[in-house]
Amino acid sequence: VDRSSLSRGALIVFEGLDRSGKTSQSARLVSFLKEKGVPVEAWRFPDRSTRVGQMISAYLANESQLDDRTIHLLFSANRWEKRVQMESKLRSGTSLVVDRYSYSGVAFSSAKGLDIDWCKAPEVGLIAPDLVLFLDVPPERAAERGGYGTERYEQLEFQKKVAQYYSMLRDPTWEIVDGCLTVEGIEEKLRGLVSECIDTCQKGKPVTNLWP
Ligand code: TYD
Repeated sequence: VDRSSLSRGALIVFEGLDRSGKTSQSARLVSFLKEKGVPVEAWRFPDRSTRVGQMISAYLANESQLDDRTIHLLFSANRWEKRVQMESKLRSGTSLVVDRYSYSGVAFSSAKGLDIDWCKAPEVGLIAPDLVLFLDVPPERAAERGGYGTERYEQLEFQKKVAQYYSMLRDPTWEIVDGCLTVEGIEEKLRGLVSECIDTCQKGKPVTNLWP
């Protein structure tokens, strides 16, 4: 019996606009799961620790200029360079809570005017998330939260377009969570959704690839 497939970890992805609360909610979720004894790791994309990630980071800080398609493919490459490690973690039973993934890749690049199907193509074959937690906050509300930094995409008009493209990417793995609820209210909902997802994966739900 291949026991490894009976106890695989879940791939849980957070998505949402800038300032939607993904980063703090994903951190809270990971601590909760760790306390429960669930093997889990917190990941994020872009992963700025790699060579590709450093190029992305310089671009986001406006320290370098790159053609829209070039930066799109770098974001994608940054996920591809982690794919083998991602699959082996999942198969060895570790769940991954990932702050942004392919949906960010497609929504942000499409918002610049690139064709959505062109944007989706390089993501084909990456591991499909078991659950996408979309923290839904109207662009105006996210902007009011302040803390829009100086990074390239942190502007209201652009974030509105990103929101439109996100809505085109919804699929049955998505759960739309109202990001305007209290921190505790959101946390509570996420815990329920995630526990159920981890359970389903443990029971042998197969690992699949994008796009579903
Ligand atoms: P992130 O590091 O999550 O933002 P922050 O530094 O505010 O925590 O992401 C940086 C930006 O990159 C964010 O505006 C979304 C964008 N992005 C893409 O355009 N494509 C992608 O594939 C990803 C993962 C992020």
